[in-house]
Amino acid sequence: MQERKPQSVGLGKVVIDRAALEAGVERLAAAVAGDYAGHDPLFVGILKGSVFFLADLTRKIPFPSQIEFLTASSYGGSSTSSGEVRITADIVTDLRGRDVILVEDIIDTGLTIRHIFREFASRGAASVKVCALLRKKTAKNGGTPADYVGFEIDDTFVVGYGLDYDERYRNLPEIHEFEPNPQGKESQT
Ligand code: XMP
Ligand code: MG
Repeated sequence: MQERKPQSVGLGKVVIDRAALEAGVERLAAAVAGDYAGHDPLFVGILKGSVFFLADLTRKIPFPSQIEFLTASSYGGSSTSSGEVRITADIVTDLRGRDVILVEDIIDTGLTIRHIFREFASRGAASVKVCALLRKKTAKNGGTPADYVGFEIDDTFVVGYGLDYDERYRNLPEIHEFEPNPQGKESQT
């Protein structure tokens, strides 16, 4: 096996621990379940950051629900968002007449979710709502609609529970602050 040292430089304090995450996801699931009881929602997770959140959220929804994933990429520094968003791997389900819940890990500038929201609304969905685990408290995302938000956090870079730095740390069970390497490279949302 090739020896590769894990990079842990930069990992900071826990911002949301496991118990708080669990309680937050429980709250969101209760709100979503209340609003969609008797409907047939389609949960669309935005890869890769939403994967643990979507898995936990949907397992707390007490009626049958459909799950899809898409991949979106933004280009710029690995810890900052740039202006360009592209759907690089799309869902296959016909959205016409469907009630869609977009599941996002974090709203930073809001560019990613606004782009996907507009795209999905244009495909004839009956409704499109946004469920984000985290939203940063920053003026940059002032106009971003989000129907369900788990936690409002300070405007610092965070990793864990799906969120990465350079594709690492997604598997941390809690959310930590992270002091990123300022050297930029392409990032996947
Ligand atoms: P925007 O700015 O489009 O950003 O709302 C959304 C995407 O940017 C990534 N992002 C982060 N990823 N820690 C991360 O690991 C962060 O603090 C962070 N802020 C933004 C993320 O991929 C999200 O989907
Ligand atoms: Mg990311």
